Amino acid sequence: MAIWYQKENRTFTLQTAHTTYQMKVDDFGFLLHLYYGGKTEGDMDYLLTYYDRGFSGNPYDVGNDRTYSLDVLPQEYPCMGMGDYRGSALMIQNEDGSECCDLRYVSHEIRRGKYALKGLPAVYAGEDEADTLEILMADSVSGVQLRLFYGVLEKEDIITRSAKIVNCGEGRIVVEKAASACLDFMSGSYDMISFYGRHAMERNFQRTWIQHGNYAIGSRRGTSSHQYNPAVIVAERNTTEDMGKCYGMVFVYSGNFLCEAEHDQFGQTRVMMGLQSDLFHYPLEKKQELVIPETILTYSDQGFGKLSRQYHKCIREHICRGKYQKQLRPILLNSWEAAYFDFTGETILKLAREAAELGIDMIVMDDGWFGKRDDDNSGLGDWQVNEKKLGCTLKEMTQKVNDMGVKFGIWIEPESISEDSLLFREHPDYAIRIPKRNPVRGRNQLVLDFSRKEVREHVFDQLCSVLDQGKIEYIKWDLNRSLTDIYSKENQQGKVTYDYVLGLYDFLEKLMERYPDMLIESCSGGGGRFDAGIMYYSPQIWCSDNTDAVDRIRIQYGTSFFYPVSTVGSHVSATPNHQTGRSVSLHTRGIVAMAGTFGYELDPGNLSREEKEEIRKQICEYKKYAELIQKGDYYRLSDPFCDAYGAWMFVSEDREEALVHVVMLEVHGNMPVNYVPVKGLIADAVYEDADTGRCYYGSALMEAGIPMPADLGEYPAYQITLRRKRAL
Ligand code: GLA
Repeated sequence: MAIWYQKENRTFTLQTAHTTYQMKVDDFGFLLHLYYGGKTEGDMDYLLTYYDRGFSGNPYDVGNDRTYSLDVLPQEYPCMGMGDYRGSALMIQNEDGSECCDLRYVSHEIRRGKYALKGLPAVYAGEDEADTLEILMADSVSGVQLRLFYGVLEKEDIITRSAKIVNCGEGRIVVEKAASACLDFMSGSYDMISFYGRHAMERNFQRTWIQHGNYAIGSRRGTSSHQYNPAVIVAERNTTEDMGKCYGMVFVYSGNFLCEAEHDQFGQTRVMMGLQSDLFHYPLEKKQELVIPETILTYSDQGFGKLSRQYHKCIREHICRGKYQKQLRPILLNSWEAAYFDFTGETILKLAREAAELGIDMIVMDDGWFGKRDDDNSGLGDWQVNEKKLGCTLKEMTQKVNDMGVKFGIWIEPESISEDSLLFREHPDYAIRIPKRNPVRGRNQLVLDFSRKEVREHVFDQLCSVLDQGKIEYIKWDLNRSLTDIYSKENQQGKVTYDYVLGLYDFLEKLMERYPDMLIESCSGGGGRFDAGIMYYSPQIWCSDNTDAVDRIRIQYGTSFFYPVSTVGSHVSATPNHQTGRSVSLHTRGIVAMAGTFGYELDPGNLSREEKEEIRKQICEYKKYAELIQKGDYYRLSDPFCDAYGAWMFVSEDREEALVHVVMLEVHGNMPVNYVPVKGLIADAVYEDADTGRCYYGSALMEAGIPMPADLGEYPAYQITLRRKRAL
């Protein structure tokens, strides 16, 4: 067991291969956090100190002991109203309007296997791979119960946290705020690393010193958002890519979130991850409960690189599910940047013919194949095939494509509705909007109320009748706007943002059950819902609407801090690029797209014979390394925001083979040589460069690096394959 309870001093210890997490129930029944970090032995409660702190209140039952204050003590799940004036993990409004929750320990249970969460995605693991600790806390006045869940994946150095709030009292309560994890650090100075962005430029690295005051990132957009990703790193101030201590917090949720950090009056640091408190007032009637989505924690004493690899493995093996969890993904040709809305069935068939000739596995018919949809102003909600536009039925289309030896996939946007649609005319109340007010439009569309079962069922039936028409082996599930006008008919608007996401998950779960072999790629205007929650249903996500190779190096760099390459949808697009106007060689575009689930987003009909030949080679090359790329260990070799080059590499688990990719970002006259040190090799093993036949010690390549050619031209890219040799 990776979890044990020491009865005498009521201490819980969670141990993974390299980390220890400890907490204790104190004399008053409060659950105090003791430690999280590198592996330790023994009881860590010697770290707790007690001093009389002015203006820090004392719980009534400590009597005259003024040295006991929750304002100072490290806690597992701090609640509003108990004299802790730092941010709270939980805020509850009781029936009498008071905002207080006094949770004390009641009991606990330790069991084999990993807990699951009803209606929510969560890390899963076999009975022998994980253990669970469930702690029951209760407020004896209101009857509110809190169940704290801890999952320990010992081998993976992963600890998960989640919580369930149950109203066991008589009256109605309202949950105003709830986190799934709180980390209290008793000492030290920390930075928070978060990833901000915008549509078409997601997940930029940002490092901020956690100072006094409250620092928060989050989303109020209904989705996890392009603007802030629901995952952060808390690092000691001198931690770097390869050195130093850091902690990760990844929220397994695709909706509104809040991550807060605070350095308090006594130099302690609190970081919390959970549900966004804005637009959230969740009423719980007697016996009702609310499950707070999970946060995945991990710790590294060797910088961000190791932390990322721990997350990659966890997400790849314990979040992603289904047939494609392990199976290599098909290489796609997507019609969007090839034709946008301007296509007929013949265009798609022509793309499929090109795909067949180039060795591309699958063609994806993107937006525009249904209802009245020749631009983005109408048709969403009308999931009927536009046979007039296609010139055939969907069955005939898939048949023709399959006959060419190519698989077929389609784009859908099930959560959206155009006002100019049959669905809106029939069911205007299906859209989320506030009565008597004009709704806020986004991309000239509204959002369907997925918190309502009848709405989901209607769309589900419509979609199934499309998906059943032919052999559709892939869908791209998109959502192209943020939520606004939060309102619900039953006067429970405080529930909508949360119930919406659970509705989405319910829909996706049903879709997976009905079409277990179908690959679901999710998307929200590119990477607007790129989170561990959606990966439970969709093992790959269109990373960004920006397909420019140079911008993508930065976007994929930021994405790589938590999410494995196998989840990153990445395609080679036309040049000049449609988002930036930049021209980059086909070779460089290929190298960048290979750090993802490879594909194309262009019309091969516009390419020269030489370019097509190059694409054929590119595809062979990708197929050769697909296993290593999608399942190998990923190392960042540069910071493309500061360095003259973007570089990364993949190393096989046995470290026998490695693939290094380098793209020069700066070119100058009389160029100095760039040396790129690689990582992850066996220091005293010999590796052969597969192209040149030259052999090197792993130590040499890791310590001194590889000199890069000083080629002329913009953004040249290099690929180096290293294979272990038994002797020099
Ligand atoms: C979003 C997606 C694109 C494309 C369009 C279609 O922007 O991110 O890839 O599918 O929608 O409208």
